[in-house]
Amino acid sequence: MDASDKKRSAAKAALEFIEPGMTLGVGTGSTVNLLIEMLPAVRDKIDRIVSSSKASTVLLKELGFTVSTLNEVGDYDIYIDGADESNKRLELVKGGGGALTREKVLAAAARRFICIVDDTKLVGMLGKFPLPIEVLPMAQELVSRRLLKMRGQPIWREGFITDNGNHILDVHDLQISNPIEMESRINRIPGVLTVGLFADRPADVLLIGGDAGVREMRN
Ligand code: 5RP
Repeated sequence: MDASDKKRSAAKAALEFIEPGMTLGVGTGSTVNLLIEMLPAVRDKIDRIVSSSKASTVLLKELGFTVSTLNEVGDYDIYIDGADESNKRLELVKGGGGALTREKVLAAAARRFICIVDDTKLVGMLGKFPLPIEVLPMAQELVSRRLLKMRGQPIWREGFITDNGNHILDVHDLQISNPIEMESRINRIPGVLTVGLFADRPADVLLIGGDAGVREMRN
């Protein structure tokens, strides 16, 4: 089974969590794209949809879904998204696709957060995947200097502009032994819009696609 098949099986398992009348939040990335392809099969169950990126919104609209804004729906039922890494406490690194800010907002507003991954994403300690941080472009150098003091190696994702008009720094070599503390420490650097650590609000359910099927972990 290749990674794409594993992602597909995790995405399919997530469909089971969608109940009639629910408002659904949709994340961003290749795993979520596979989920979006499957959503027409459960169209009748979905009341409203909110999206975490322009890319996911385009795909949803192509399938005939109307996309609401978060301001219209308020707190809502269920958010489904992928991740770049998860530990066993379901704390996540996200933002490989650069959509981390809207993803974090949608995760915060959801009563339930279902994360869908292939089995390469489950790790002992977060941080092998470079940690994405969305920064105001004018603060990029300041934020980089602060991250260097924290022994991270920030690399500007050159040429990439987020949906919010900002830049991404991918921070290498961070040992994230305490994700909640690291999330709050990076959040305090002026100019940081969002850090791609989802520890304060981890996933509630992790669906891991692997060779032997889908494994479920819960918080
Ligand atoms: C996008 C994300 C994605 O969820 C993450 O990068 C995983 O992507 P993929 O499903 O393509 O492996 O956080 O900002």
